[in-house]
Amino acid sequence: MAEKDTTQVSAEKAYYEDVPPPAQSFHVKGAAHAEWGLKDRLSRIFSPTTGHTVMLAFDHGYIMGPTTGLERMDIVIPNLAPHIDVFMATRGALRTCVPPTFNKGIALRSTAGPSILADDVTDEVLAVDIEDAIRMNASCMAIQTFIGSPFERQTIDNLNKAINAGNRYAIATLGVVAVGKQMERTTRFFLLATRMLAEFGVHLVKTYYCDDFKKVVAACPVPIVIAGGKKLPENEALTLAYHAIGDGAAGVDMGRNIFQADDPVAMVQAIGKVVHEGYSDKRAYEFYKDIAGNDKPVVKRGRRGRPKKIF
Ligand code: R5P
Repeated sequence: MAEKDTTQVSAEKAYYEDVPPPAQSFHVKGAAHAEWGLKDRLSRIFSPTTGHTVMLAFDHGYIMGPTTGLERMDIVIPNLAPHIDVFMATRGALRTCVPPTFNKGIALRSTAGPSILADDVTDEVLAVDIEDAIRMNASCMAIQTFIGSPFERQTIDNLNKAINAGNRYAIATLGVVAVGKQMERTTRFFLLATRMLAEFGVHLVKTYYCDDFKKVVAACPVPIVIAGGKKLPENEALTLAYHAIGDGAAGVDMGRNIFQADDPVAMVQAIGKVVHEGYSDKRAYEFYKDIAGNDKPVVKRGRRGRPKKIF
């Protein structure tokens, strides 16, 4: 039992009787009425200062094996960690390559499917149990959907199962609008797909940038982060990010355009300038060129030339 508190302060001072409670608002679109735990997780994804996010997608290995630039995730990824808000990855990559002291957002890739050697990569299943997402302290579960593909219904089922499980424990769901080889990439398609995912109940959507993107953002009641896609020259990738943020995207979730850049550490910082600091694409590219090459990822070597322990 606590000892009797004998300290005296005036009631007026202690209770701030004339001060109204602070107004409460939340910086993530569509989440103002969410509960505390979910808001805590969403705040790991979207900076409370800027409302935006830089997510690094490095989940490519789950269908492609050792993708160019990610041959050694254990060396490449820790160098990028200080400059991002969220890692989007499989549980295997996270457990082995991301220090648990990272303590930022985790978008846990929670579906799995056939490899690029198979006929159709869209035949995905829900792979991660909610218990494992909790163990990984996931901020959100990333679920791929293929709207308009033969496996549309199955991927929608995966998504809704994840949302239902996540809702029990206040873990957000990131709905990914994936585009199969034969599928259209029109504004009409992205309007349809992003809105469907939001109405199913995802808390954020990942999709591609397109014409009339402002319309897509306006019609989607939760935040949209844009996908990077295939590697572009660095200046073009910065222009993509600049237009997306200007048109209302809440951030980027890029992979190859960061880790396949000539200098991934410089590139991720330049993307951060656009996303969080309002840099234009041109200014961010100047910034990139200024720092590129100065801060090459360092592989610290211990005895016998082995890379040093990172965590
Ligand atoms: C899409 O969400 C998939 O998870 C991809 O594996 C990944 O996010 C692709 O990233 P990027 O196209 O920017 O390399």
